[in-house]
Amino acid sequence: MPMPPSLIGSRADLLIEAVVVAEIIAIPVLLRAIRAAREGQHGLHKGLQLTLATVFAVATIALEVDIRMAGGMSFFAAGGRYEGTVFLDAVLYGHLGVAAVNAALWSVFPIVSWRRFRARLLPGTFSAVHRTLGWWAVIAYALTAGSGLALYIVGFVF
Ligand code: HEM
Repeated sequence: MPMPPSLIGSRADLLIEAVVVAEIIAIPVLLRAIRAAREGQHGLHKGLQLTLATVFAVATIALEVDIRMAGGMSFFAAGGRYEGTVFLDAVLYGHLGVAAVNAALWSVFPIVSWRRFRARLLPGTFSAVHRTLGWWAVIAYALTAGSGLALYIVGFVF
């Protein structure tokens, strides 16, 4: 069954655009989750972060399968202003690089944190490591979402 087309007339399909919208909606949710941790609402922080981690995992797998089944990034870039340019390659590989680091952080780190939380080590002896890695996960997400948006614009819209 072919994927429904773009809503705004881009070369992306509906699933790709749904993921772009989801990555923007995730930003206020992530900010709320960080505020919850700072205010000591650990249950809310945990729930929001585990929800985000699950949504990111599902969205990443769906996006990967969708793009590969369509014939890869070159299929979508075909006919676009930046088709075959070094610029598009730089945006694509830059995005894939930060996305790989992001995926590693957002899969292993939430599970480890959840286990430490249940073992009553968070808050506790795991707090300092959690805060450091947590901020790295936030930075990795910001870079992944930003570069993903750039890739959508130069690879699928123009
Ligand atoms: C990828 C997912 C997660 C990210 C990005 C993340 C991020 C953060 C950040 C940045 C802070 C520090 C906030 C500050 O500056 O005060 C924090 C604190 C905290 N997080 Fe997470 N977190 C994640 C998942 C989780 C999970 C799954 C749990 C529990 C099951 C959890 C429990 C906590 C607790 C208890 C604190 C407070 C630590 C303390 O002050 O001792 N986090 N988190």
